[in-house]
Amino acid sequence: MSYIEWSDKYSVGNDMVDTQHQKLMDIINRYHDALEEKRPRAELVKIFDEVADYAIYHFRDEEALMERIQFPKMARHKVIHKQLIEQIGKLRAELVSGVAEIEQQIRFFLKNWLTAHIVGIDTQYTPFLAH
Ligand SMILES: [Fe+2]
Ligand SMILES: [Fe+2]
Repeated sequence: MSYIEWSDKYSVGNDMVDTQHQKLMDIINRYHDALEEKRPRAELVKIFDEVADYAIYHFRDEEALMERIQFPKMARHKVIHKQLIEQIGKLRAELVSGVAEIEQQIRFFLKNWLTAHIVGIDTQYTPFLAH
Protein backbone atom coordinates (compact mmCIF):
# COMPACT_ATOMS: atom_id res chain seq x y z
CA MET A 1 0.00 0.00 0.00
CA SER A 2 1.17 3.49 -0.79
CA TYR A 3 2.01 5.95 1.94
CA ILE A 4 -0.61 8.35 0.59
CA GLU A 5 -3.60 7.02 -1.33
CA TRP A 6 -5.61 9.31 -3.56
CA SER A 7 -9.31 9.47 -2.77
CA ASP A 8 -12.23 11.66 -3.82
CA LYS A 9 -12.00 13.73 -0.66
CA TYR A 10 -8.85 15.25 -2.20
CA SER A 11 -10.60 16.42 -5.36
CA VAL A 12 -10.82 20.21 -5.67
CA GLY A 13 -13.07 19.94 -8.74
CA ASN A 14 -10.46 20.88 -11.34
CA ASP A 15 -8.75 18.18 -13.42
CA MET A 16 -5.45 20.01 -13.87
CA VAL A 17 -5.08 20.59 -10.12
CA ASP A 18 -6.20 17.06 -9.19
CA THR A 19 -3.65 15.57 -11.61
CA GLN A 20 -0.88 17.75 -10.18
CA HIS A 21 -1.83 16.84 -6.60
CA GLN A 22 -1.71 13.15 -7.59
CA LYS A 23 1.73 13.68 -9.08
CA LEU A 24 2.90 15.26 -5.78
CA MET A 25 1.53 12.23 -3.92
CA ASP A 26 3.44 9.93 -6.30
CA ILE A 27 6.72 11.69 -5.57
CA ILE A 28 6.07 11.64 -1.79
CA ASN A 29 5.27 7.91 -2.05
CA ARG A 30 8.60 7.39 -3.81
CA TYR A 31 10.34 9.26 -0.98
CA HIS A 32 8.61 6.92 1.47
CA ASP A 33 9.66 3.83 -0.53
CA ALA A 34 13.28 5.01 -0.69
CA LEU A 35 13.24 5.57 3.07
CA GLU A 36 11.77 2.11 3.70
CA GLU A 37 14.44 0.58 1.47
CA LYS A 38 17.10 2.49 3.42
CA ARG A 39 18.44 4.14 0.29
CA PRO A 40 21.41 6.51 0.69
CA ARG A 41 20.71 10.07 1.82
CA ALA A 42 21.71 11.45 -1.60
CA GLU A 43 18.76 9.59 -3.15
CA LEU A 44 16.37 11.00 -0.57
CA VAL A 45 17.68 14.51 -1.31
CA LYS A 46 17.10 13.93 -5.02
CA ILE A 47 13.49 12.86 -4.48
CA PHE A 48 12.95 15.69 -1.99
CA ASP A 49 14.16 18.12 -4.67
CA GLU A 50 11.62 16.65 -7.07
CA VAL A 51 8.87 17.38 -4.54
CA ALA A 52 10.17 20.93 -4.09
CA ASP A 53 10.45 21.62 -7.83
CA TYR A 54 7.08 20.15 -8.60
CA ALA A 55 5.44 22.03 -5.71
CA ILE A 56 6.80 25.32 -7.09
CA TYR A 57 5.51 24.43 -10.57
CA HIS A 58 2.13 23.44 -9.14
CA PHE A 59 1.79 26.59 -7.01
CA ARG A 60 2.37 28.71 -10.13
CA ASP A 61 -0.41 26.93 -12.04
CA GLU A 62 -2.73 26.98 -9.05
CA GLU A 63 -2.17 30.69 -8.46
CA ALA A 64 -2.87 31.39 -12.16
CA LEU A 65 -6.12 29.44 -11.82
CA MET A 66 -7.11 31.42 -8.71
CA GLU A 67 -6.40 34.60 -10.62
CA ARG A 68 -8.61 33.49 -13.54
CA ILE A 69 -11.55 32.71 -11.28
CA GLN A 70 -10.88 35.82 -9.16
CA PHE A 71 -10.76 33.85 -5.95
CA PRO A 72 -11.22 36.46 -3.18
CA LYS A 73 -8.82 34.83 -0.71
CA MET A 74 -6.01 34.40 -3.24
CA ALA A 75 -3.54 36.73 -1.48
CA ARG A 76 -3.68 34.71 1.73
CA HIS A 77 -3.36 31.45 -0.23
CA LYS A 78 -0.26 32.79 -2.00
CA VAL A 79 1.34 33.65 1.35
CA ILE A 80 0.75 30.07 2.52
CA HIS A 81 2.45 28.74 -0.63
CA LYS A 82 5.40 31.07 -0.07
CA GLN A 83 5.76 29.94 3.54
CA LEU A 84 5.72 26.32 2.42
CA ILE A 85 8.51 26.90 -0.06
CA GLU A 86 10.56 28.53 2.72
CA GLN A 87 9.88 25.61 5.04
CA ILE A 88 10.90 23.14 2.32
CA GLY A 89 14.20 25.04 1.92
CA LYS A 90 14.91 24.73 5.66
CA LEU A 91 14.07 21.03 5.70
CA ARG A 92 16.31 20.41 2.70
CA ALA A 93 19.26 22.00 4.51
CA GLU A 94 18.55 19.82 7.56
CA LEU A 95 18.32 16.70 5.40
CA VAL A 96 21.63 17.47 3.70
CA SER A 97 23.38 18.11 7.03
CA GLY A 98 21.95 14.92 8.52
CA VAL A 99 19.95 16.20 11.49
CA ALA A 100 18.77 13.22 13.59
CA GLU A 101 15.48 11.64 12.47
CA ILE A 102 15.06 14.30 9.78
CA GLU A 103 14.27 11.71 7.08
CA GLN A 104 11.21 10.51 9.01
CA GLN A 105 10.21 14.04 10.01
CA ILE A 106 10.25 15.09 6.36
CA ARG A 107 8.12 12.13 5.33
CA PHE A 108 5.57 13.00 7.99
CA PHE A 109 5.72 16.70 7.11
CA LEU A 110 5.17 16.08 3.37
CA LYS A 111 2.15 13.85 3.89
CA ASN A 112 0.56 16.16 6.43
CA TRP A 113 1.33 19.27 4.52
CA LEU A 114 -0.11 18.03 1.22
CA THR A 115 -3.25 16.40 2.57
CA ALA A 116 -4.04 19.24 5.01
CA HIS A 117 -3.33 21.90 2.38
CA ILE A 118 -5.56 20.24 -0.22
CA VAL A 119 -8.46 19.59 2.15
CA GLY A 120 -8.21 22.76 4.24
CA ILE A 121 -6.89 25.39 1.83
CA ASP A 122 -7.16 24.37 -1.83
CA THR A 123 -10.81 23.28 -1.59
CA GLN A 124 -11.69 26.84 -0.52
CA TYR A 125 -11.60 27.89 -4.18
CA THR A 126 -13.77 24.95 -5.34
CA PRO A 127 -17.06 26.91 -5.08
CA PHE A 128 -15.57 29.62 -7.33
CA LEU A 129 -14.76 27.25 -10.22
CA ALA A 130 -17.09 27.45 -13.22
CA HIS A 131 -19.25 24.35 -13.44
FE1 LIG B 1 -2.61 25.64 -2.72
FE1 LIG C 1 -2.55 22.69 -4.55
